[in-house]
Amino acid sequence: MKYINPIQTRSWKILKNHFHIMKNVNLKDLFLSDNNRFKKFSIFFENEMLVDFSKNFITQNTLKYLLNLAKEMDIKKAIQLMFSGKKINETENRPVLHVALRNRRNSPIFVDNTNVMLEINHVLKKMKDFSEQVITGEWKGYTGKSISDVVNIGIGGSDLGPYMVTEALRPYKNHLKIHYVSNIDGTHLFEVLKKINPETTIFLIASKTFTTDETITNANSVKIWFLKNIKKKSALDKHFFALSANIQNALDFGINIENIFQFWDWVGGRFSLWSSAGLSIILSIGFSNFEKFLNGAYAMDNHFYNAEYEKNIPIILALISIWYTNFFNTQTEAIFSYDQYMHRFAAYFQQVNMESNGKSVDKNGKKISYQTGPIIWGEPGTNGQHAFFQLIHQGTKLIPSDFIAPVISHTHLKEHHIKLISNFLAQTKALAFGNSEISFLQDSYFFKENKKDLNKTDKKSLFKQCVGNQPTNSILIRKITPYNLGFLIALYEHKIFVQGHLLNIFSFDQWGVELGKNLAKNIYKNFSTIENSKCFDSSTKGLINFYKFFYK
Ligand code: F6P
Repeated sequence: MKYINPIQTRSWKILKNHFHIMKNVNLKDLFLSDNNRFKKFSIFFENEMLVDFSKNFITQNTLKYLLNLAKEMDIKKAIQLMFSGKKINETENRPVLHVALRNRRNSPIFVDNTNVMLEINHVLKKMKDFSEQVITGEWKGYTGKSISDVVNIGIGGSDLGPYMVTEALRPYKNHLKIHYVSNIDGTHLFEVLKKINPETTIFLIASKTFTTDETITNANSVKIWFLKNIKKKSALDKHFFALSANIQNALDFGINIENIFQFWDWVGGRFSLWSSAGLSIILSIGFSNFEKFLNGAYAMDNHFYNAEYEKNIPIILALISIWYTNFFNTQTEAIFSYDQYMHRFAAYFQQVNMESNGKSVDKNGKKISYQTGPIIWGEPGTNGQHAFFQLIHQGTKLIPSDFIAPVISHTHLKEHHIKLISNFLAQTKALAFGNSEISFLQDSYFFKENKKDLNKTDKKSLFKQCVGNQPTNSILIRKITPYNLGFLIALYEHKIFVQGHLLNIFSFDQWGVELGKNLAKNIYKNFSTIENSKCFDSSTKGLINFYKFFYK
């Protein structure tokens, strides 16, 4: 596959010219000039999801030019290569096969002449059997008691994804209490240890590499705490498990080989929730719900692989994102889930998007001269409305955002849900059209623009103006079920894949995080001598001096 610099493509040049026409576009005008706008710029997915992308700075020509870019960059070929198991993660010489984890058709996928479906199905079966034993109470702890608590010890993709999914699917959870410990700040572990009984708790050490300092530090501390309470090393076999691609390190830690749930190096950490890294999800909602979750992702995989460009939801959302990042020069992209259970959805996709596309060297090793991945942020609605929406309504930044909401709530509080949806609709409307339709024009300076002496009322109204013209995508999902959450997550994963390909970057490594890790290890090793060392800058020395002054 050729590595094409997107800005050198014919489509990009056409988009640049088109941008000069569109840069002052007004969403109000786009809607006033076309009563069918919603119909033209929205797509249904399996009658379970509606994606409305009509409130964007796009016309049919814009979409045509953007789709031409996708075609010129041969996205379909890139998709086929990923699904085929080709080593597209070139800097780590690995395939990218999180799609194999939910390949429900079970068609063979080969990595180095081995059909990976065999080992995937073996681990799925192992997780099914184990989770059923724990959930039914058949699995006993060292003192013969059933399990009540599960502690997942992991960070990044070994934490964010599983935590987000177990939270989003709380309506499907069983009696087990699931805890997540990720930060090396001892507070995180301390607060969980206060809540659990070592006799009835299992610990999942989730780490693809089984070398991440936060995870191994937390795991060692838990092991010491556990053995202080239980006093028998053999008890570890009933309570400690590893979710990892590094079998040897897990064995060296003291995990029984039978207690290791393997995943593989062709599963990126931030894409690993579908693998054994997601065991806490299975323990929380049960294996059959986890299978529905996989089925939903598989449905989106099929859509992504087969849908024509013009109807391909991940491709369209990725192109709209590129339109803002690379032509309107936006810096961030927000995700607002109008669903409290989905409160960690944006946080999860901070890692998936920013760790994938936060790059500045292209596939040919050249320094990139254009913008790459956006900053992803967001909080659940309606809370965001009472925190930072002011800036989006009246600030100076252009902030494209995705609004996601379920049509059907899991709670019986119907009135609450209708108010939630009313806010969802109101916000995307207000962001698009502002308040010019309401009272602004009647008592504003612009209405009486020839008048010199503004009276008090007019002047005040200037501070109330919301010009709107902030673009949004609205995603309505019938209900947040395991299946539907599965396809929603896969949708965003594939959108990020397309963005990365269009930006001509390798989206599946994360070399940028290594520097900080190594520096931390070096500082930790030299902690007692830093202030006298020549190797450290005056700021680091000044900071460590302040720390040492208090930490006697
Ligand atoms: O942040 C860097 C990173 O390697 C992530 O990509 C990964 O999800 C996380 O650290 C944890 O890595 P591991 O699962 O190997 O402990």
